[in-house]
Amino acid sequence: MDALGKVRRTHDNNSLTAADAGREVVLTGWAQRRRDHGGVIFVDLRDREGITQIVFNPERDPAVHEKAKAIRGEYVLGVRGIVSLRPEGMENPNLETGAVEVLVSELWIFNTATTPPFMIEDQLEVSESLRLQYRWLDLRRPRMVRNMTVRHKASRFVREFLNEHGFLEMETPFLTKSTPEGARDYLVPSRVNPGLFYALPQSPQLFKQLLMMAGYERYYQVVRCFRDEDLRADRQPEFTQIDMEMSFVGEEDIMDLSERMIAGLFDAVLGVTVPLPFQRITYETAMDLYGSDKPDLRFGLPLCDVTDIVAKSGFKVFAEAALRGGIVKALNAKGASELSRKDLDDLTRFVSVYGAKGLAWIKVKEKDWQSPIAKFFSDDEKAALSQKIGMEQGDLVFFVADTKKVVNEALGHLRLQMAERMKLIEDECFAFAWVTEFPLMEYDETEKRNVALHHPFTAPMDEDLALLESEPARVRSRAYDMVLNGTEIGGGSIRIHQRPMQEKIFSALSIEPSEAEEKFGFLLSALASGAPPHGGLAFGFDRLIAILCGEKSIRDVIAFPKTQKAACLMTQAPSPVSALQLTELSLRVSRPE
Ligand code: AMO
Ligand code: AMP
Repeated sequence: MDALGKVRRTHDNNSLTAADAGREVVLTGWAQRRRDHGGVIFVDLRDREGITQIVFNPERDPAVHEKAKAIRGEYVLGVRGIVSLRPEGMENPNLETGAVEVLVSELWIFNTATTPPFMIEDQLEVSESLRLQYRWLDLRRPRMVRNMTVRHKASRFVREFLNEHGFLEMETPFLTKSTPEGARDYLVPSRVNPGLFYALPQSPQLFKQLLMMAGYERYYQVVRCFRDEDLRADRQPEFTQIDMEMSFVGEEDIMDLSERMIAGLFDAVLGVTVPLPFQRITYETAMDLYGSDKPDLRFGLPLCDVTDIVAKSGFKVFAEAALRGGIVKALNAKGASELSRKDLDDLTRFVSVYGAKGLAWIKVKEKDWQSPIAKFFSDDEKAALSQKIGMEQGDLVFFVADTKKVVNEALGHLRLQMAERMKLIEDECFAFAWVTEFPLMEYDETEKRNVALHHPFTAPMDEDLALLESEPARVRSRAYDMVLNGTEIGGGSIRIHQRPMQEKIFSALSIEPSEAEEKFGFLLSALASGAPPHGGLAFGFDRLIAILCGEKSIRDVIAFPKTQKAACLMTQAPSPVSALQLTELSLRVSRPE
């Protein structure tokens, strides 16, 4: 029988200091490590908070010492003992409790433990899949404990901030109808309605708008969203949003409130002061200067459009790209002219991933340019390039010629790559920005129709309404994204709040009235029954936490994440179900051979 119930721990394992010397304490936790020194047994006793060294001395208490011999890694223990200053020279400055140890007079072994497949410590050299398979052990590591704690603190801060600002926390259904955010739906079959399906929400978008129409004015939710899309380091099939919506507001109100919330969060969690207001940059400028709608603004390295200068040049690749309506852009990697031929070949391969058919370059040397393409340009063209790009001795300038899309993708990524190579990114630097005036829609080649860039409920900018029929691709929306260090951490918009406008936009998106009625009839009806002007935003909570924790992957800030193949390696989900379950759901599975 263990003594649970009788043993009440008096301290956590991160709290004892020299001031506690002489005090009797009870501690509980896991045996991190056991060391024997000349008969004395030392154990690092670990819990969520930290580590305290406990000591079993054969002379002090032979029976307890004998019992302690059984202790192995990850055994679950309780001890009673006296706090004692460590002998001089034996203090551990790396531990909060490093000045003391506990001389044990009573030991409870609550449980034994099998040898873990990896050490419970931060420096690990094991595959992520092993960590995910044994996630409960992985979560014991201090780094994971820290991440989960930051996550908790952040959600608590956000809740308090929004509560104070008059928001109501409200829940919305998980078993629902498709809420289009551009990904595939996860479907749930209905047993009592054979052949019918619920969709898990890609976001609570429609529900939060309906809450505004219902008069709730300010809503928020820390909410799980489900999207069946191709996964990457910053995407999970289920992820968490801080979702909010406000009535009687314009974009400035929402941006102002959100950036104050985020600045407060960084102060509360990291003690970092974020200057307000955040920089604003239009989508068009972001694409022009950085080739991306989520620019990393921790460094410069802007792109430079040189199409005009090279359109008539003797370099056919450039001239032809311009002739076909494409563009030529340059990226000046200041002072990088020492890159080797091999580096340049590697970078050419790097941009090819983004569709670039080549990567032209010029090294600006003392006397002249060193470049495979310099010979194609006249002196005037050279002078114009040099001036526009700001070329100076020691610079390395890259060029890509192609469609606008390919050039921006390729040079946008090359820009990030070069910043890393040139070590332009400082640690602990947080570059926030709002990206605004996104296009309302873009042409989808596979669907052969315009699709909403944000979602179909986003309001167009008034000044562009006249273009809706003639040049829909040029209509800008009242959407905004919050970007941090090159990651889109949140996005939202002012919504359409009048039925005729919503119908107009559905029509521009080739959604027939019958389809609109079938999918969004309730929304159209609500819009016609007293919908206030409203707008909102949702933050990607996991991404935000990953940045706060300095983690590269959001998997490291989610307790039980899924792999790139959307699997849970611990529970083995997804998994087959019984024939009976399928029958009850009126489903038949056709598995590929
Ligand atoms: P959006 O689709 O931009 O907007 O999503 C909001 C934020 O959620 C994060 N995010 C993700 N994080 C992890 N894994 C994913 N698969 C994933 N997908 C998105 C991003 C993103 O900025 N309803 C709208 C919001 C609104 O208009 O109010 C929406 O969902 O950080
Ligand atoms: P080539 O004339 O094909 O030998 O190309 C000369 C240089 O131009 C090489 O460095 C190529 O990588 C580069 N190049 C080829 N196509 C493009 C392109 N579309 N954009 C930029 N550079 C290119």
